[in-house]
Amino acid sequence: MAFKRKDLIGIRELDAAEITEILDVAVQMKRLLEQNGKKTPHLMGKSIITLFYENSTRTRMSFELASKYMSAAAANISASASSVQKGETLIDTGRTLDRMGTDVLILRHPMSGAAQLLAQSVKASVINAGDGMNEHPTQALLDMFTMREKLGSLDGLEVAIIGDVLHSRVARSNLWGLQKMGAHVRLAGPPTLLPVELDKLGCTVSTDVDSAIEGADVVMGLRVQLERQQKGLFPSVREYAARFGINEKRIKLAKPGALVMHPGPMNRGVEISSAVADAVESVIEEQVTNGVAVRMAVLYLLTRKEAL
Ligand code: CP
Repeated sequence: MAFKRKDLIGIRELDAAEITEILDVAVQMKRLLEQNGKKTPHLMGKSIITLFYENSTRTRMSFELASKYMSAAAANISASASSVQKGETLIDTGRTLDRMGTDVLILRHPMSGAAQLLAQSVKASVINAGDGMNEHPTQALLDMFTMREKLGSLDGLEVAIIGDVLHSRVARSNLWGLQKMGAHVRLAGPPTLLPVELDKLGCTVSTDVDSAIEGADVVMGLRVQLERQQKGLFPSVREYAARFGINEKRIKLAKPGALVMHPGPMNRGVEISSAVADAVESVIEEQVTNGVAVRMAVLYLLTRKEAL
């Protein structure tokens, strides 16, 4: 039993044994889902609340489905329809939900560090479902699960992560996780969207997307956060697609059969072409499927009293 935490805030603080245990339990959860008609007793008597201050389709719904498949009482709160609109703070909202006997709070918030702050203020376990530009740990776990399932091991993989690295919590969580699991990460994108000093973390950093993709086992596109364009961080969507987009010509530079990944939602024709997103090498839809099993594993490990 490597994973003995109250909360899952980031991949940065996990070690390889903890990541491996989560991925191994997710394998069992995926098998249970396929065999048992989407019903397990692991969270019987537990209450799980998703508290989202930002929009989400994949993360929120997969946590909700995971909770329900595992027999928990599950509820959603979106900030726009809660007392947050009346000025209630995150900590007061968390304490209110704590006093209702919530076992797990799943938080998405625009502020980096919000999940850590909440975890320090409540008895419930807290899962970070994305905090600002910091981390999105369950996305990285489902990405690593998908790579391991398809390629057998993460050790020694060359993983190219392409696009808006600066604003991407997905890139950060994957960087921490993949390095701990023995993979090498290549980050590439426009110079204005690459944080400084990233190369000191042991990854390769480049503005040349072609060289980052060349020979890679996995090519992961990141969503271009089009809302950033007003800040002048890249000239135009068309130029972005031409210089930094993952297209049919560029993907041929990767290893034959390299996996194509994207956390979603995608801007088709911008950071990734439809031809690449829908190609046989694309595992983008499998990432979504695996997200349910991985989130079931995380919920189980945070609340477990006994072995599976
Ligand atoms: N990948 C991801 O976090 O997607 P959502 O914003 O839809 O949850």
